[in-house]
Amino acid sequence: MEKLKQAIETHGKCVSDEVVKVDQIINHQVDCALMDEIGQAFYDYFKAKPIDKVVTIESSGIAPAYACALRLGVPLLIIKKAQPNTMSDPLFAKVFSFTKRKAYSICVEREYLKPGEHLLFIDDFLANGEAFKGAEELARQAGAVIDGVGIVIGKQFQNGQAYLDKHGYDVYTLAPIKEIKDQHIIWAE
Ligand code: G4P
Ligand code: NA
Ligand code: NA
Repeated sequence: MEKLKQAIETHGKCVSDEVVKVDQIINHQVDCALMDEIGQAFYDYFKAKPIDKVVTIESSGIAPAYACALRLGVPLLIIKKAQPNTMSDPLFAKVFSFTKRKAYSICVEREYLKPGEHLLFIDDFLANGEAFKGAEELARQAGAVIDGVGIVIGKQFQNGQAYLDKHGYDVYTLAPIKEIKDQHIIWAE
């Protein structure tokens, strides 16, 4: 998605050879018009699939997941990082964050993930894919199927993309980064 790549180049900042800061447009302050086009791009790619629900993990995946779910006409399910005390029958999974060097739990109300449901997972970043593996584990416990994975910014030099490819997922990445070098993003195909 050319417009997204240009916005990242204009408003983003490479803070290291591994991390790009996009908090002016994507994950802190949000460019809503751009986010709307991100939702449209995911919709265009995944619309032929029989998706029952879009799934993301709070918080930064919510905006792109919402924009896509609205167009698909399906609910958005937000996986929680802390169990709300109103949650009655949770499914849990553990996620290990490389960035934070610690494990945390994610959860979802069991009744919102049903056996046989077809899911589209959407997130703002794909790094090592640990968050995705947590969502995958929740889907496994529920007996739901992940039919597609939509990623806004994919850092292909980290382990997540290889994991998704190896397991045969249909992945659509809008801004795939091959590498970050001298504060400069080198885009993949
Ligand atoms: P992963 O293995 O699941 O891919 O995640 P990792 O632990 O590497 O990353 C943890 C958090 O850091 C995630 O957000 C992820 O979106 C974010 N992240 C990963 N790479 C980058 C990057 O290059 N730039 C920025 N800005 N963020 C990155 P989170 O902690 O789950 O929080 P939230 O932002 O979704 O609330
Ligand atoms: Na995220
Ligand atoms: Na994030």
